[in-house]
Amino acid sequence: MIHMIDFHSHILHQIDDGSRSIEQSVQMLKLTAESDVDKIIATPHFYATRQDPEAFITKRKERYSELLDAVRDSDGLPEIGLGAEVAYFEGISDCDYLSEFKIQNTNLILLEMPMNEWNERIIREVSSIYEKHQIVPVIAHIDRYMKIMRRKNIVECFDGCPVFIQANASFFADFFSRRTALKMLSDGRIHLLGSDCHNTDSRRPNLGAALEIIRRRLGTTATDRIEEFSSLADSGGSRITEVHFR
Ligand SMILES: [Fe+2]
Repeated sequence: MIHMIDFHSHILHQIDDGSRSIEQSVQMLKLTAESDVDKIIATPHFYATRQDPEAFITKRKERYSELLDAVRDSDGLPEIGLGAEVAYFEGISDCDYLSEFKIQNTNLILLEMPMNEWNERIIREVSSIYEKHQIVPVIAHIDRYMKIMRRKNIVECFDGCPVFIQANASFFADFFSRRTALKMLSDGRIHLLGSDCHNTDSRRPNLGAALEIIRRRLGTTATDRIEEFSSLADSGGSRITEVHFR
């Protein structure tokens, strides 16, 4: 049974700036297993402004089956799901191939926001993705934008919108951001976690460290809640859209 899910990883080899080889991908899976993570979603970068969607999808499919083949006889490794980290672009809400980028068997899409301050138009466009496609955008690594946006804005700008928030494990693991991360999690502002792992050294799978901190500081109720929400998201059932969007 699936409990803990890493919703953001660059575990597929030679498709983006993540894993450089299939051996490294397998190593990353082994490190993920040490973190008590049952499933990891492979979310390679996709930039619509400079990549052909069809070529990306074909390559992603190849890399994914190569990785599945490589671990076929291995025990104790996490299940691997497929998705993408789609970079925001103007007109994304009208994109006719958006559903190809959904996290496998869900109605979620991992969305990387612009690295400049988000204006009203951007917020409106992201919010309308659900209305137009019945796809719920998951804002990738919310922690990455804390410096760009004023902190107050970032936690409130999507209030009432059909949007979920993913935070990276490092947000909890880093001493200087930990307090904010735990507060956002307790306030229900963070829904899903990810390691955003790219390799086996500087950006290695690290969800275990974050979960340990959350467990120690907020108790098992907090980690249970994360597990419950992750399973709900992963189940692809309609219940996910019934969740009250804060
Ligand atoms: Fe990423």
